[in-house]
Amino acid sequence: MKTYIIAIDGPAGAGKSTVCSDVAKELGILHLDTGATYRTLALGLLREGVDVTNEKEVTSVLDKIEISIDFVGGKQLMYLNGEDVTSLIRTNEISQAASASSVIGSVREKLVQLQRDTAKKLSMIVDGRDVGTCVFPDAQYKFYLTADTRERARRRAKQLLEQGIECDFDELVAEIEERDHRDMNRPISPLRRAEDAILIDCTDMTQQEVVQTLLRSVKVE
Ligand code: DC
Repeated sequence: MKTYIIAIDGPAGAGKSTVCSDVAKELGILHLDTGATYRTLALGLLREGVDVTNEKEVTSVLDKIEISIDFVGGKQLMYLNGEDVTSLIRTNEISQAASASSVIGSVREKLVQLQRDTAKKLSMIVDGRDVGTCVFPDAQYKFYLTADTRERARRRAKQLLEQGIECDFDELVAEIEERDHRDMNRPISPLRRAEDAILIDCTDMTQQEVVQTLLRSVKVE
């Protein structure tokens, strides 16, 4: 069977990760969360003590930060210099640091290479900000998943709470808006819908409805 890529882009909190996990399970393929690579690198940068907005400082330590991905029972594990950091990269501090450092060209080059290598020989559903536009422009299936900002903040708050992380709702809305602005306005590979991506606004949709919409559009030979 020919391998294929399903690319899902969209802003923070639209529910890409959970929907992708469900679709991956249904189709028996792996889910690659590219945001996790930016998060892992951001953790590495914070540990190196560099200013994540300073291109020169960030670029100078990139070779010291080794990132690898493993899949165990379908779950994506992230390693930073050999340490499993999967459970350490979901805080708000890391979200902001990942968004800030992801505007830097050398960061994107390093991580896009890793993402392409990871999905080289297997069928995968890949989510992020630039998957359909830059990482896999030839992906067989492309979607752009979005939702109203406050609804996205609500979903993020619920997700964080499930991990035992409490947060202020208005602060979360402000952080999401700030991240959207940065992700959509950076000069390199900004978040935008690929021309050939199917737009799904899931503000009033359940997770199951989104999953079914995706599955209906994907016709695997
Ligand atoms: O999807 P996420 O919230 O885990 O992503 C964290 C940050 O990483 C996001 O704000 C921007 C950056 N990112 C990116 O620039 N390109 C991607 N393909 C995925 C994430």
